[in-house]
Order: sequence, then structure tokens, then C-alpha cells
Amino acid sequence: MARVLSGIQPSGDLHLGNYFGAVRNWVQDQDVADAYFCIVDLHALTLSIDPEVLRRQTLDAACVLLAAGLDPQRCTLFVQSHVPAHQQLTWLLECTATMGELRRMTQFKDKGGGQESVRVGLFTYPVLMAADILLYDADQVPVGDDQRQHLELTREIAGRFNHRYGETFTIPSATIPKVGARVMDLQAPERKMSKSSGSPLGTVGIMDPPAEIIRKVKKAVTDTDGIVAWDPAGKPGVTNLLSLLGAATGQDPTTLAEDYQRYGDLKGAVSEALIEALAPLQARYAELQADLSGVIDILRAGSDQASSVASSTYLRAADAVGLLRP
Ligand code: TYM
Repeated sequence: MARVLSGIQPSGDLHLGNYFGAVRNWVQDQDVADAYFCIVDLHALTLSIDPEVLRRQTLDAACVLLAAGLDPQRCTLFVQSHVPAHQQLTWLLECTATMGELRRMTQFKDKGGGQESVRVGLFTYPVLMAADILLYDADQVPVGDDQRQHLELTREIAGRFNHRYGETFTIPSATIPKVGARVMDLQAPERKMSKSSGSPLGTVGIMDPPAEIIRKVKKAVTDTDGIVAWDPAGKPGVTNLLSLLGAATGQDPTTLAEDYQRYGDLKGAVSEALIEALAPLQARYAELQADLSGVIDILRAGSDQASSVASSTYLRAADAVGLLRP
């Protein structure tokens, strides 16, 4: 059975990009793979975040993931900082990756490259991500399109380590969905939907109530020619709406345009489909919020299971580089 690992930052309300690009696919992976999913709280420290907010959002992310359908009987769900091997392996990998490689990461450039005040952790972020993946000998890493470059770097680092010290790590591959891999901001469809850098009106949260979804979709930017057509370069706003409709209904988004004559009709269909897709998840989320101690128990069991795998991989890597066993 293939091993799958993926992660998500506890950066507040998760949005449609997180859902269609990643989380929804994780739910399917549980049935066909040995699946590990990680709430990456250490990654959230690369940008300014209030300590209480981080704690609350970490637990909240667990509730959202469980509500979305992750099942602790079928996958391992855990918090990154609960498994110390992530930080331990990161150092070994930081001594493998190069400055030049990290400088080329577009996410770093977008989020703060060039400023002297930028946190070192934002620069080395992709190395921690590589440790997350390599510790579990993951074959597949289901992510949205924006993580493609980080996965390439992970493969590069793993290959170099293996070459230098002997076969230690499994080389992972990214699994990027056909539909929903790049959900765009409804207000600025040339930019990806993002909690940290997107517009509030252009970002639809997984927990947004129906009225909020209708309002945001109604205000989504389209264009002035009034023709519903799939045209990513020429009509990014309309194409994004078609893509959301495809992701929410399971239909091919490139052919959906034929069913709609006007933008208003398309937007109505998009809101309706999103509300329907999110309703069960929102109901389960409310139940989980009422039993947070149950959620904490799930995370504790998850970190025990994750630690047993991660600590043995770390020891393998520590032995390989020549660290003396304690
Ligand atoms: P994060 O927390 O930004 O996003 C979590 C997942 O959601 C996907 N995603 C999107 N997909 C489609 N359209 C969008 N607009 C969109 N926005 C986000 C992301 O691709 C991701 O799959 N570095 C990672 C977290 C991470 C990780 C890992 C992932 C840390 N360690 C190990 C995989 C394996 C991140 O910041 O994702």
C-alpha cells in the first residue's frame, strides 16, 4: 500500500482552495493508501501570529479536517510540533539544501524575499516541509499546484542525501488534482485564493454560511463581454467560476460553459453547488466543536503513531550522516 503524507497550515478559516486543492482528495486517499495528515503549526510561525490564536486555530484545523471526512480509524492525523523528529531532521536537511535552491522558491519571494527583516524561518520553510515528507517515507504527496516547486525541492534534497550518505529516503511524488488544483481569488482571478495574501471578499471560507457564499460569488469579478466560456487566459474570472462549479459537482469544468447563457445564471449555479457541497461538512464541524476533548484525544493518538514512524526514520538519517548514538 502506498504511503501518503500531506500537511496544512492552521492559518485561520480554511478556504475553497485548501478544500478542492487538497483536503477533499485526502479523504479519498484514506481508503487506498496508508495516509498521514499533519497540521503544520511550526510552519505557521514563519509569519506573525498571536500565540493564543495559533493554539485555537490548530485545534480548529483539526475540527475542519475531521468534519471534512478524515477518519482516525483510516488515517493518522497529528500536529507537527508534537513529533520532535520534524525539527531534528530539518537540521540534517538544512545541511543538505543550498542557499541558491532556497532563494529560487517563488513562495519565499512572494511572501517577503528581499527584505532584511524577513524571518529566517520563512526562508528555510521548504526544508521543514521536506522533513515532514521524508520522515514518513511518503510515496505520494497530495497538494495544490502552488506546492509543486516545494515538492521538486524535496525530491532534490532527498536524492542528494541518498547519493551522499547511501539510500536513506524514499523519493516522493506530488499528486495534484485535475480540477481544483489552483482556485483563484474571486476578486482578483489572476491570483490564487489565499488566506494570507488574498482579498476577504474574494476568499470563500469552508465554514462560510450560505448567505456569505451567495454574496461573495455574486460580487465575483467577471468581465464585460457577457459570454460564458472556458478561457483561462482571456476570461480568468469566468473560468474560475466554471472551475469551482466543476470541482463542487464533479463535472468537467471545460464543458460546463455550454449550459449557461448569462453570468448571473452561472453565479447562481456556483453558489448553489458550493452550499450543497459544504453543508454536511459544516454540520459535522458544529458537532466536533461541542466535543473538543474528543478531538484532542484523536490528535494525541495520531502523534503517538506518527512519532513511532518518524523517530525511526530520523535515527536512520542520523546514523547515515555519522551522528554518534546516545
Ligand atoms: P497551505 O496550508 O498553504 O495549503 C494547504 C493545501 O491547500 C492547497 N491550496 C490550494 N489549492 C488550490 N487552490 C488554492 N488557491 C490553494 N491554496 C492552498 C495547498 O497546495 C496545500 O496542498 N507548505 C504547505 C503545508 C505543508 C505541507 C507539508 C504540504 C507543510 N508541510 C508536507 C504537504 C506536505 C502549505 O503552506 O500549504
